[in-house]
Order: sequence, then structure tokens, then C-alpha cells
Amino acid sequence: MNKKINKSDFKTDWSYSPAPESTDHIKIVKKNDLFINGKFMPPEKGKYFKTINPANEQKLADVAEADKSDVDKAVKAARKAYDKVWSKMDPSERGKYIYRIARLIQERAREFSVIETMDGGKPIRESRDIDIPLVSAHFFYYAGWADKLSYAFPGKQAKPIGVAGQIIPWNFPLLMAAWKLAPALATGNTVVLKPAETTPLTAMKLAEIIQEADLPPGVVNIINGDGKTGRAIVEHEDINKIAFTGSTDVGKMIMKSVAGTGKKYTLELGGKAANIIFEDAAIDQAVEGIIDGIFFNQGHVCCAGSRLFVQESVADTVISKLKDRMESLIVGDPLDKNTDIGAINSKMQLEKIKMYVDIGQKEGGSVHQSSCGLPEKGYWHAPRLFTDVSQSHRIVQEEIFGPVLAIQTFRTVDEVIAKANNTPFGLSGGVWTDKGSKIFQVSKSIRAGVLWANTFNKFDPTSPFGGYKESGMGREGGLEGLMPYVNLV
Ligand code: NAI
Ligand code: MG
Repeated sequence: MNKKINKSDFKTDWSYSPAPESTDHIKIVKKNDLFINGKFMPPEKGKYFKTINPANEQKLADVAEADKSDVDKAVKAARKAYDKVWSKMDPSERGKYIYRIARLIQERAREFSVIETMDGGKPIRESRDIDIPLVSAHFFYYAGWADKLSYAFPGKQAKPIGVAGQIIPWNFPLLMAAWKLAPALATGNTVVLKPAETTPLTAMKLAEIIQEADLPPGVVNIINGDGKTGRAIVEHEDINKIAFTGSTDVGKMIMKSVAGTGKKYTLELGGKAANIIFEDAAIDQAVEGIIDGIFFNQGHVCCAGSRLFVQESVADTVISKLKDRMESLIVGDPLDKNTDIGAINSKMQLEKIKMYVDIGQKEGGSVHQSSCGLPEKGYWHAPRLFTDVSQSHRIVQEEIFGPVLAIQTFRTVDEVIAKANNTPFGLSGGVWTDKGSKIFQVSKSIRAGVLWANTFNKFDPTSPFGGYKESGMGREGGLEGLMPYVNLV
């Protein structure tokens, strides 16, 4: 029986009772300085900017803005720590420090989860069950590699490369910090890390942990600021490697800027993943995978399944089930444990998402939106899906980075492979089918770094992640994730 679920059913069968996570145990530092050479220090020019909670627009804290001279100070501290201590240290000793960081994060996981949710707007269920556990898992995993590099690269010696400048985005703030720091430290490099300007707070908490773990001063330096600070890191002449996650536009600028300098770089950029549903798939599971693929973390996910391809024979069923399931998604207070979709990270991102919804409609797409109410204060966007769109529509080609899904249909395997590859991106994809042979055929033919079969958005520190084409270059995670941080001799 395929009973359609109406909003009114919920009102009678089940009443919604909020279960907000307590914030009593959280101590947010109201004025965050720069973390350089193991100490918190004010910025040279004395400038601070604020970070807010996007769910209520309230200010959470002031954060120091690093300018060129602060970047220089951080790079000098990192260089000294590299030359004098970290690159010379016995690798098993380095590993012990990284294990210590992993354990301290685990101990304070609840605090980290709540702050991540307050600063960035993601549901507490996600920061508590996905982001923060993956952060410690990453540190544990790379701590293990520290003294085993000769097994990672048999017959070669893996030498560190020096000082790494690492610039990260706001969608998975602490997780991206972990992706950057853990392999760099395990291989003997030192770091200057810059979080995104809307989500600096968990990285500043991590600085506290780095102090507590007694890491030698200067091995990890964490400084804040916007694109100008990021550029000063990229352009600093004593940086040996840039690791960047963010927009394709900034990625291209970084490539130009480091060309000819000898700096190594890895870029993790945007995506527009195809999530492909064949008629022989387990349809209800596929619907869950579509929902997770596009609405996880408000759709602020570079590998989000934002282009859905459904085989024509099951399209009506899938779309109808999808609409029913969308209706049951709870949008609201990110600190509430029932919440499925939290706040959009910033006003700017909300405007970008709304702009794309407008474009989609102007170009002739039909939009469906769930009937959920939205809080008055803060930045919110109800989940939406578009049908009646084709390959040439902008919402099919461009990354929206929000809870907006574009749906197309297909008839044959060859057709869907061609459509899925018709994108400037190549980060990820998903395939849903009962047939193993079809999984191999499709995943082999789709030019993307990660392909999920009968699941979506699964992450693991042992598994490499990264893109083709405009989705970037280099891999993070797994053994491959060590490579950008070593010279093999
Ligand atoms: P962005 O690329 O500007 O920001 C990412 C990081 O780069 C931030 O830390 C930022 O301060 C820094 N940055 C900005 N300009 C820089 C420069 N010239 N040199 C060095 N660092 C610089 O991304 P933004 O503006 O926050 O988001 C815009 C769009 O980018 C999103 O709508 C989304 O489509 C995409 N994006 C993709 C991400 C991914 O994970 N692939 C993450 C964040 C954004
Ligand atoms: Mg914030």
C-alpha cells in the first residue's frame, strides 16, 4: 500500500516535542586571538570581526583578523618549529602527539558538537554523530601512519616538505581542519591553518587542545580572517604547500598564484554529483539515499547528490515517494535533536540559493517545496526539488550548495552515463541498482573521484577523496592522502 503522507497526519498521529541540546556546558571564548607559536596573541592591527549563530543571527564571539604581518609571524613560527623540532623528531613520537589530539577531541566531543552547530547552523545530530567522530577518527588514522611511512611507500624514503598553508571552508569546519592537519603532522610538516570566516570557533577550541596536548610551539598555528588573509597565506614565499578546500573560483585563483613558484598544492573544489536510480533498485532505500544525498548538511556538501537521474519506468513512483519523504523532514533549530535540516550557513549563501531557485523557475523548471514552516529569525531554506529541467539548465550545471535537487529521467545505461558526465565537475556520484554488473559498468564510466553504490555520503578516514576536472586535484584521506605532504626519495 502506498499511502500518501499528509502534514495533517502528523498533527493527529504524532505531536512534535522539541528536544534541544543543552548549551550549559559550553564555554565560548568571547574574544578569540590568533594562535601562533603555541600562544594566543592579538593581531598586529588590533582588528576583530564577529561570528554569529546563523539560526538566530546572534553574535557568538569576536575573532581576530590576521593581516599580512600576522601571517608572516605564523609562517616564521611554523618554519622554526619545522627546522628545529618537528621534522627532526622521531616519527613514533610525532604519532603520540597526534593520538593525544584525537583522544582529547573524543573527550570533549559534546562541547565540540554543540559549538559546531551554533557557529555554522548544522543539525546537532550531524555534528554529534558524523562530524566530530570523524574528526577524531582522522587524527587516530593518521597518527597510526606516522611511524609506518616506510610501509606506505616501500623502497622509498618519505621526507616532509616543510610549512603547509591550509585554507578551509565553512560546511564541515572542524572536519576539514582534521583532514588538513592530520596527514600534514603525521608526515612531519608544520602548519598555518585558516578556518572560514563564518565558522572559526571549533578551530579555536582545537587550538586549546593543541596547547593541552603539549605540541611543540609553532607546529600548528591557527589564524582567522577572510579571503585577504587566505591570499596572504597563498602568496607567502616561505610556504611550501597549499591545501585548499572551497569554491572552484578561488581554487583557480590559487592555481594561478602558485604557478611557477614550486609550491605544491591540492585543491578540493565544487561538485554537481549525479545520483542515478535504476528501475531494479530497492526504491525505498534509494529514496532515503536521495534525501541524504541532497539534504544532508542543508546541501552544503561538495559531494552532494544534487543531480538526480531516475529511470523513466520508475520516475513517477520515485518522485512521489520523494515528495512524501520531504514532507516529513523537520527544518528548524539546529540544536534540536529532532532536526533534519538546520540553518543555512550565512546570509550570503541563502541569497545564492534563492537566486538559483529563481533562475530554475525562470528557465522553465517546475519546483516543489515541502510545506514546513520556517523560523522567523535566522537563515532558512525549505527543501525543494525541480522537475522539467534538462542538461542545459543552469541549476543542472552549476553548484548551488543548498537543499535544492534537480531531477531528470533516462532510459538506457549509456544515456545516463553520458548525461552524468556532462558537467564541468567530477567529484562524486551514486548508483542504485540490484545488479552488481551495472554498478561496475556505471562506476567505471563516470569520471568522478568517489562513487557510492546503494548508499551515499559515506566517509571514512581510510578512503581517499578528491576530484577530477573543475572539482580539483589531489586526494585527501587514506594512504593517498599522505602523498601531497611528502617528497619521496
Ligand atoms: P570560498 O572559496 O570563498 O571560501 C573558502 C575558503 O577560502 C575560506 O576560508 C575563505 O576565507 C578562503 N578564501 C576566499 N578567497 C580566497 C583567496 N582569494 N585566497 C585564498 N583563500 C581565500 O567560498 P565561499 O565564498 O564561502 O562560498 C562560495 C561557494 O563556493 C559556495 O556557494 C559553494 O558553491 C562553494 N564552496 C564549496 C566548498 C567545497 O567544499 N567544495 C566549500 C565552500 C564553498
Ligand atoms: Mg558563525
